[in-house]
Amino acid sequence: MKKMLFTLVLVFTLTLLVTGTALADNGPHGGFTLTTDACASCHRTHTATGPKLLTGAGYLICTACHGQTGTGADTNVIDGVYTARDLTTESPVEGVPGRGLLAGGFGAALMDTNLDTTVGSVTTTSSHIYTGTTGTVWSYGPISATVNNGQASTALSCMNCHDPHGKTGTGKTATYRILRGQPTGVTLTASVEIPDQVAKTYSIASNTGNYFTQTYAAAQSTGLTNWCSQCHTRNLTVTGSGSTNSGDAVFMYRHTTNAAASVLAPNGLACTSCHVAHGSSAAMTALANSASLAGDSALLRVDNRGVCQSCHNK
Ligand code: HEC
Ligand code: HEC
Ligand code: HEC
Ligand code: HEC
Ligand code: HEC
Ligand code: HEC
Repeated sequence: MKKMLFTLVLVFTLTLLVTGTALADNGPHGGFTLTTDACASCHRTHTATGPKLLTGAGYLICTACHGQTGTGADTNVIDGVYTARDLTTESPVEGVPGRGLLAGGFGAALMDTNLDTTVGSVTTTSSHIYTGTTGTVWSYGPISATVNNGQASTALSCMNCHDPHGKTGTGKTATYRILRGQPTGVTLTASVEIPDQVAKTYSIASNTGNYFTQTYAAAQSTGLTNWCSQCHTRNLTVTGSGSTNSGDAVFMYRHTTNAAASVLAPNGLACTSCHVAHGSSAAMTALANSASLAGDSALLRVDNRGVCQSCHNK
């Protein structure tokens, strides 16, 4: 009898665990049951066409659902838009069809970059690499008295940042956007786990609002700042760093990138105050274009240096 009771308790606990996980990660990412069918959406046992038994090579696995023509997900990250094409019923709904995504987009984005309160789909002017080709991880590495721009020749794709299997937190808990505690491509010892969003919202608050005013809950805002800085090490600063010499040959005096609400109400200051994560359609002219990365918009939320004016209003 005692044994029977124990079994019942165990079954009940397992059910709770499975249900909890299923609510947290989304789509085919995590929340797998012992008899899940989800593996088959990305893996083939005998007939795979990509390494690691995948149904395709590299990022193409992801864009099969998250791309322009995929029907397996609502988040079209190439056009940076939330659609209504995923056939599962969401409750509560996770976005408004036709609105821009929080991360901008890789090919095009719906962002009000000129602050005129109208938004259309505009081709991006900068984005993180997502195809697996290589670039420099700007500022990766410790403070250096000799010039060190970062880690060159680093391949970057969706999988460096996201874990397709979800449950990437300690004890297999969900993290925000299935982001890896340790993004791959750089050498890391510590882990940054961003707590998951309680109710998923993928689209921006309004297509006719100022994209710069998109805000994040404190946990995600601070979390993302620490997370981005695992790759862009020397971009992480505290208040006062604008007038304190860091001793670095390149990143000598640096704008605050991690300030609490006590410095800047109501949400503090974070990487996502100025940047989007995937790609931006902001326009850069003359001087703004030559500042650091000639020819692109450095994932900024507003045209030229509109982000500066949005806070300082000089
Ligand atoms: C959304 C697509 C997707 C789904 C669903 C998925 N996988 Fe994967 N899996 C991948 C990708 C992509 C990789 C390669 C990851 C990398 O190279 O960083 C991978 C790698 C693996 C690996 C090898 C290395 C590792 O990361 O552990 C195993 C084992 C694996 N998957 C098993 C499974 C099983 C079992 C399931 C179902 C419970 C599953 N996968 C569901 C995309 C998926
Ligand atoms: C079989 C279709 C399918 C494939 C393949 C797929 N996804 Fe997804 N993914 C979804 C669905 C469905 C969601 C839920 C949101 C939505 O409808 O867009 C989702 C959600 C996500 C999210 C948000 C998770 C969260 O916690 O809010 C991320 C990030 C993501 N996918 C990345 C990837 C990456 C990276 C790959 C490639 C390894 C991939 N997906 C492959 C269907 C897919
Ligand atoms: C450099 C790291 C990085 C790469 C590369 C990357 N992502 Fe993301 N992704 C993020 C971050 C960070 C967020 C959260 C953005 C936010 O909330 O502002 C995110 C958000 C998302 C979302 C939620 C919708 C949104 O726009 O907020 C999906 C879906 C997604 N990523 C899929 C992908 C897919 C598919 C790829 C490859 C084609 C990819 N990501 C490549 C870091 C990355
Ligand atoms: C106050 C606005 C602001 C904040 C906050 C901010 N950035 Fe930037 N970032 C910029 C601007 C503007 C540029 C374009 C180059 C310039 O003017 O220095 C840029 C450029 C970059 C670049 C391109 C290489 C370089 O250094 O010029 C990287 C990488 C970067 N930022 C990462 C980050 C990370 C990571 C965070 C958070 C730790 C962050 N940024 C926070 C405004 C900001
Ligand atoms: C896995 C490591 C990695 C992570 C995590 C990462 N980045 Fe990057 N980032 C790169 C690499 C590599 C490049 C250079 C190649 C490219 O443009 O993708 C880059 C380039 C950039 C640039 C310059 C883009 C341009 O115009 O060329 C900015 C700005 C930037 N990252 C900001 C961020 C922010 C903000 C986050 C967090 C949301 C972040 N990064 C997270 C690896 C990373
Ligand atoms: C999200 C709001 C925000 C944005 C956007 C922003 N700033 Fe700031 N800025 C601040 C805050 C807060 C401080 C005070 C920092 C401190 O306490 O060290 C500051 C400080 C400064 C300082 C003084 C630094 C010092 O050492 O005294 C300068 C100069 C400056 N910002 C220029 C800029 C420029 C140029 C841009 C555009 C790339 C910009 N800011 C974008 C909020 C912002």
